[in-house]
Amino acid sequence: MPTPASVRPVLDQAPATESFREAVLSGLQKTQKQIPSKFLYDARGSKLFDKICELDEYYPTRTEIGIMQRNVEAMTDAVGPQVRLVEYGSGSSLKTRILLDHLDDLASYVPVDISKEHLVESANDLAEDYPSIPIQPVCADYTTAFDLPEPSPPSTCTVGYYPGSTIGNFRRDEARAFLSQIADTVAPDGGLLIGVDLKKDVDVLKSAYDDSEGVTAAFNENLLRRMNRELDATFDLDAFEHRVRWNKERGCIESHLRSTKAQTVTVAGKRFSFEQGETIHTEESHKYTLDGFAALAGAAGFRVDRVWTDDRSYFSVQYCAVADRPV
Ligand code: AVI
Repeated sequence: MPTPASVRPVLDQAPATESFREAVLSGLQKTQKQIPSKFLYDARGSKLFDKICELDEYYPTRTEIGIMQRNVEAMTDAVGPQVRLVEYGSGSSLKTRILLDHLDDLASYVPVDISKEHLVESANDLAEDYPSIPIQPVCADYTTAFDLPEPSPPSTCTVGYYPGSTIGNFRRDEARAFLSQIADTVAPDGGLLIGVDLKKDVDVLKSAYDDSEGVTAAFNENLLRRMNRELDATFDLDAFEHRVRWNKERGCIESHLRSTKAQTVTVAGKRFSFEQGETIHTEESHKYTLDGFAALAGAAGFRVDRVWTDDRSYFSVQYCAVADRPV
């Protein structure tokens, strides 16, 4: 399919492929073995994540979509007219459509994603449905510094969009640094519309991350397959299991891959031994109180202006404006 005229060429800043190898080799040498959760999303991992979003137990996606549908007009009012909307980790831009349906005077939409294929495909799909919105795709690992294209056409300001509570997958210090990076990008007049998952009953959280159909387990275990395929690793998929725990002090669900026996595994030519019960820590999903998130946003240079939640207060969508900066 030819690229629609409203889609500009991708600004390609894709990271070098050795970053996965380096992250795995250094993470497996730590006392608590760990691998950054962003590596869960290869093609199969992304499909499994889409399936997770449809599970009954995984409440965040459904709840966030409901909040957006009920409040989209107030949200687009907060975002303002003729802005450049930058979506961090755009994926298939599903929730974005709810916004785009109501932001008819958007100056431009800038989806940022690490998967170029996914990025181009969803930019083309969006262009079919929203032909008047200029789309400027950026292929980058948005967790590291990257450049935005020149705004084309000019906009009144830049507003970030970060749905899905993906902010929860950062440690608090990393979350603050990432939000500060966004504040610098959207300053002085812009803001950030962000989905933030809230603290709740621990059993609800645990079943969201360890569902009865085993989809989340397959999503986590897919990291072993990815290492076997891309790094010549020798993980026996039957000798590891998915484990989650609520870390009360840090306010997050931790996901691990637990070795069911003592074993040695080779990864990219290096040997790593596992004791029985030893784990690889693969993901953290931090949950916030409204005050806790306001404090985090404040420390990053934002001021929370609006908060929308559902009737159980499971999830929130928040509009954060850039706070006044010293001149
Ligand atoms: C993408 N992210 C916000 C999801 C979460 O809830 O932490 C990833 C996920 N991991 C397991 N289930 C969903």
